[in-house]
Amino acid sequence: MVTNIHHVGIAVKNLAAAYRFWRDTLGLPLVREAEVAEQGVRAALLAAGESEIELLEPLTPESPVGRFLGKRGEGLHHVCFKTADVGGDLAALRAKGVALLDTAPRRGLAGRIGFLHPTACHGVLVELATPDAGPPHAESPVRFKRLVIGSPSPGETAKTYQDLFGLPEVEVNNGGPRTMLGWIGGATLMMVPAREVRGMEGMVALSMVAPDLPPLQARLEKVKASMLVGASELTVEPQSSHGVHLHISRYHFP
Ligand code: CO
Repeated sequence: MVTNIHHVGIAVKNLAAAYRFWRDTLGLPLVREAEVAEQGVRAALLAAGESEIELLEPLTPESPVGRFLGKRGEGLHHVCFKTADVGGDLAALRAKGVALLDTAPRRGLAGRIGFLHPTACHGVLVELATPDAGPPHAESPVRFKRLVIGSPSPGETAKTYQDLFGLPEVEVNNGGPRTMLGWIGGATLMMVPAREVRGMEGMVALSMVAPDLPPLQARLEKVKASMLVGASELTVEPQSSHGVHLHISRYHFP
């Protein structure tokens, strides 16, 4: 069963341009970069606290990520959960009749990985990964906090993630419209009604935490990022963050 969000994958047109924002402006340290020919991408993992951000540049327009870019443009592409036994989990999902793209693990940038079919999770592409043992992450000034998923019925969507991956519920939902799954003080998934997010379904936004917000804000202003600034939070608009609605706050809660 899964123990964390390992990373969130973002489809980008050009890795060098994406580095300028995600590595150089946000300050996320590079973990590793490689060409994954089998997936048709050049990909990079960047540390973001306990989780990572994966940038995916397609090698050709016909590759899956190339087709995604052609259809939807840059933006959130998949979410990857960390598990101690990706092979066992894929076998268990297969036995339950869950639609899979990979029935057995293969090598990916994050370690031994496998993808579910997007129909298994209401249109969200989910990857499972068992990372190789390695040194702990470099400190990151901005940390992963939450992935927001829009759904016509958030409760049902959350139940799918609970059933398939054993994700714990963080906040007890007393019939409210939102459901939060994940780990208290760590990474979470928040299911929100699609009507609250301009009717969008699937992955709609990323929330991160930056305890020291002013230097980050200064770096964002220097590159003229389009953003809305509040007292203890800022929101970077998708045109400045490779198609990602990015919310960054000083505090982990709420
Ligand atoms: Co991935």
